[in-house]
Amino acid sequence: MRRLPKYDLVSIEDLAIPEIERIFELADMFAENLRDGVPSTRAGGLIMATLFYEPSTRTRLSFESAMNRLGGSVISSADMQASSAAKGESLADTVRVVSAYADLIVVRHPCDGAARVAAEYAPVPVINAGDGSREHPTQTLCDLYILRRKKGDLKGLTVAICGDLKFGRTVHSLIYALARFGANIVAVPYGGMDVPDYVLERLAAERNYKFSTVTIDELKSSFAGGLDALYLTPSAPHQMALFTSENPLEKVPEVRPPAALDAFYVTRLQKERLADKDRAAQGYGHFDVRALRTSRTQEAVVMHPLPRTDELAYELDTDPRAVYFEQAAAGVPVRMALVAWMLESAAREVLRPQAPEPPISFKHEPAPRCAHPTCITRSEGSYLRPRFRLASGSNRSRLALRCGFCERDSRVEYVGHATSHRYYHFDENLSGYVRQWIEEGTLAVFESVKEAEERGYEPYKRGPQREIMNAAEIARACEAIAAQAIADAADPTAIAIVGVVSRGAMLAMRLRDLIEAQTGVRPPCAALDVYGGDPRLRAIDGAETFNVDGRAIVLVDDVINSGWTVQRAMTALWQHGRPAAVKLAVLIDRGYRAVPIRPNYVGRNIPTTRAERVQVRLGIGAETRKNPDRVLLYSMVDSLRERESPT
Ligand code: NCD
Repeated sequence: MRRLPKYDLVSIEDLAIPEIERIFELADMFAENLRDGVPSTRAGGLIMATLFYEPSTRTRLSFESAMNRLGGSVISSADMQASSAAKGESLADTVRVVSAYADLIVVRHPCDGAARVAAEYAPVPVINAGDGSREHPTQTLCDLYILRRKKGDLKGLTVAICGDLKFGRTVHSLIYALARFGANIVAVPYGGMDVPDYVLERLAAERNYKFSTVTIDELKSSFAGGLDALYLTPSAPHQMALFTSENPLEKVPEVRPPAALDAFYVTRLQKERLADKDRAAQGYGHFDVRALRTSRTQEAVVMHPLPRTDELAYELDTDPRAVYFEQAAAGVPVRMALVAWMLESAAREVLRPQAPEPPISFKHEPAPRCAHPTCITRSEGSYLRPRFRLASGSNRSRLALRCGFCERDSRVEYVGHATSHRYYHFDENLSGYVRQWIEEGTLAVFESVKEAEERGYEPYKRGPQREIMNAAEIARACEAIAAQAIADAADPTAIAIVGVVSRGAMLAMRLRDLIEAQTGVRPPCAALDVYGGDPRLRAIDGAETFNVDGRAIVLVDDVINSGWTVQRAMTALWQHGRPAAVKLAVLIDRGYRAVPIRPNYVGRNIPTTRAERVQVRLGIGAETRKNPDRVLLYSMVDSLRERESPT
């Protein structure tokens, strides 16, 4: 039986320019054959599976139509909620199972990097039909195909890309491709919806390519009154492709200076991906592209990946420059061409892009987590080991890890050395060592000092320490917190206490006893471990289960500073149910905050600097007599002096 080669299309960067050109040649042929009613049997006997975890009209149906038109057949899960995914089956298991039923998998998923995971676990080839806000390479093939048909050559074209450039995955794939073909890009984002940094950094690092960002009004005035204004902004001296690809397959295109705008590529606001802070961007949803019909823009075609919402007027549809329905129609011949090209490629050697450098291996378990909330590693189970490389934006004073799945960067504040078990606040003196530890496989990274200490790491050096709370003061603070929590709860018997492991959990038990003493009701109590791969909530007191639903939860931690730990604990709590209320109690508030979280009950406010460390020491039972409770403040001397070896 015929087989397709295990060739995955996850990013548009997986295709070299000559390969894209070959696909377009095939697409031209299929378009002609479709017009003339000439049937094809190229994919006879092959089955395509379409797995769509997100809604789709064009992409799924045109893939399926294409496969049928090639004489192949299709099995489809158009609504993954009707599949075993709804029972919690992992993506890895799903694609392994489906690989036994099909020769090719087309997958769409709401998480960034999902197609990469599918490609790694499926023995059959996987095509990305959109993964979160990351990429949508086959839409780009349709876009480029139409652009090329309308304009002849992609090289030197000027394309204004408008709308939601932050979450628009079609935009990201299109930008990577236009950069390679030597086109000029003008980004015209809705307010706050700019092209993300990771896309810009990748273009700058790998292709030395930059482009300008303008408002719609600036775009209008540039093209009405002359182009120069657009090119002379000091922050973006030019926006032409300075093409530096090392790939021998791709020649450096000569870019002609733009004289006119060749295309407006308009996109809708990706409402389903907006976080609360992005909501402000709403209301920018309408572009009247007709206003841009000046002498320099009149040749421009208007493109849209569809579906449109209100950003393109229906009156525009009859204008011959409106080509969005042609883009959608191209879905069939272009996707036929892609499958046919894969069949052809089985027979010949294709040059693949260079493999990226190997990921950093971390000695400690669990490996660090990707900070990007919609990364596939955050929603799939622990089978998926996070994978990072050093981010290209890392330098002596800034350390960041780039996720191998979603490609986003996570900034690293604290690093540790896995053999000496010391941790450090990252600064430029450490950058050489960190690189050495990466090579040795001894690098550990932490989100917070707290996490480092929970994992058994000690600060590199400690400065002088002083006691800022003694046992009596700690006891009084706990009593005050318990009294406030009781007074605030509409029904004190609904109180349940959750402490963040480990000192927050110890404090939680004390609060439980105090609340019991004051109300006569012993509130249920649980420990929440947020430092593992999957946060765990464990009942204390020998109870089998701990119920969050409808409870007035008091979430307890010893110290709050950046707020990351508490934020993570809140998220974990909501994964366990729907509390009636959540109040946050901390013994010490250090004042600095990276996320907007304010504790409801604070034992003491102690403004500190980053170089200081607050340590809460709590004894249990008999230990309390030997080592009384105390809160200590000490400075961390963790910056290395020259010639001093950190380990
Ligand atoms: C796009 C998508 O799903 O990313 N649609 C498509 O495939 N043509 C664009 C969108 O939904 O806005």
